[in-house]
Amino acid sequence: MFKKLIVANWKMNPETPLQAKTIAKGVLKKIPRGVEVVLCPPNIFWSDVAKVKRPSNVFLGTQNVFFEDKGAFTGEVSASMAKESGATFSIIGHSERRALGESDEFISKKVLAAKNAELIPIICVGEKEHDTQGLYLDFLKKQIISATSLLSKSAIKDIVIAYEPIWAIGKDAKNSMSSYDIHQTSLFIRKVFIDLYGQSGKGVRVLYGGSVAPENCEELVKNGEVDGLLVGHQSLIPENFIKILTAVSKIK
Ligand code: 13P
Repeated sequence: MFKKLIVANWKMNPETPLQAKTIAKGVLKKIPRGVEVVLCPPNIFWSDVAKVKRPSNVFLGTQNVFFEDKGAFTGEVSASMAKESGATFSIIGHSERRALGESDEFISKKVLAAKNAELIPIICVGEKEHDTQGLYLDFLKKQIISATSLLSKSAIKDIVIAYEPIWAIGKDAKNSMSSYDIHQTSLFIRKVFIDLYGQSGKGVRVLYGGSVAPENCEELVKNGEVDGLLVGHQSLIPENFIKILTAVSKIK
């Protein structure tokens, strides 16, 4: 059994290296042991955050990686550079990057590059709109098939899927997806992996993201039956993020 995995996606926040260090210090002084935590600061603040001492259940991750190893790719950071700098995880294919034009093809190459560099990819999938006929499930399945298309069966087992319905991102706790719907979707995602990859598909961890807050985190994980959470704006407020970690660490 894995511990629950809680990933902090700071996105393009905060504004200064000092603020980044202060948030990291605020979070890291009270980490419960019963969860695994990943902090994903902007790359430019990476070394500031990495300098803060962290317990062994806290890892660093990047918000993106590029699929080539090195060379003339201005502005990009490769998966192997991230690994060498201390990253264990990388978010790949976040909806905010897809909205800026990141293609399915790029995402599949990035997932492969991450695996080759021994980073654990946190692959984001999620529909723009939720429909009652279940068309969104076909959409998710296509995103999953495409993102994992370059991986061998054996490489599948320790990837992470973050299900983030786009319509539920950046709101307050009342407007997240319901735990009932999260449960239905997480079951569907697990089934897709088992249908596609058999036994290896069973090892995939499924997270939920979208308006996670101290008020809803326990309900979302427990009744949504997910392996953890991908947290955006609330991960920038140390006391709230610690409340999320503490509540989730107590879930059996
Ligand atoms: P919020 O938690 O701010 O809704 O963001 C979710 C998200 O996009 C995390 O990757």
